[in-house]
Amino acid sequence: MREVKIESSLTVFEDYSSFTEAELNLFQKAKEACKNAYAPYSKFYVGAALLMDDGKIITGNNQENAVYPCGLCAERVAIFHASSQFPNQTYQSIAITIDYDRIEIDDVAFPCGSCRQVLFEYESKQPDKIKIYLLGRNEQVIIVNSVEQLLPFGFSNKLLS
Ligand code: THU
Repeated sequence: MREVKIESSLTVFEDYSSFTEAELNLFQKAKEACKNAYAPYSKFYVGAALLMDDGKIITGNNQENAVYPCGLCAERVAIFHASSQFPNQTYQSIAITIDYDRIEIDDVAFPCGSCRQVLFEYESKQPDKIKIYLLGRNEQVIIVNSVEQLLPFGFSNKLLS
């Protein structure tokens, strides 16, 4: 028997003072995206802004459906859209937020397991890690340096070859 331990870490920032203009712009795009979320059932409005390596930002928000499982999370809407339109691009980072003006919680929303797995796929096929910014209420930000840190035991596409 042997035990395998994988450590994961994140960094918490209480304000925006250490972020660049480009990062603040990405945060702004995620915040704008959550305003257009279609979430009439859960009323949980999520926005994501994905920065591609060519500098373009692709946004997404959650899209719900009367047949609940048909809906899709903001992160997947953003990255599927990016990959479908720009299949050769790689991704630098993604900022994710919930609409703190319409949701009365103070917690940061971490991506669900399915979104982690989807992000994991795209991270696996590019040389560099994708940095994740989770935006909290006010100016709180949590940074996770890679999808691998968010999903330490992800399903690897290497198994399918
Ligand atoms: N949601 C996201 O958009 N991203 C996540 O990572 C978690 C959940 C959405 C899905 C659904 O529309 C609503 O939030 C409540 O689960």
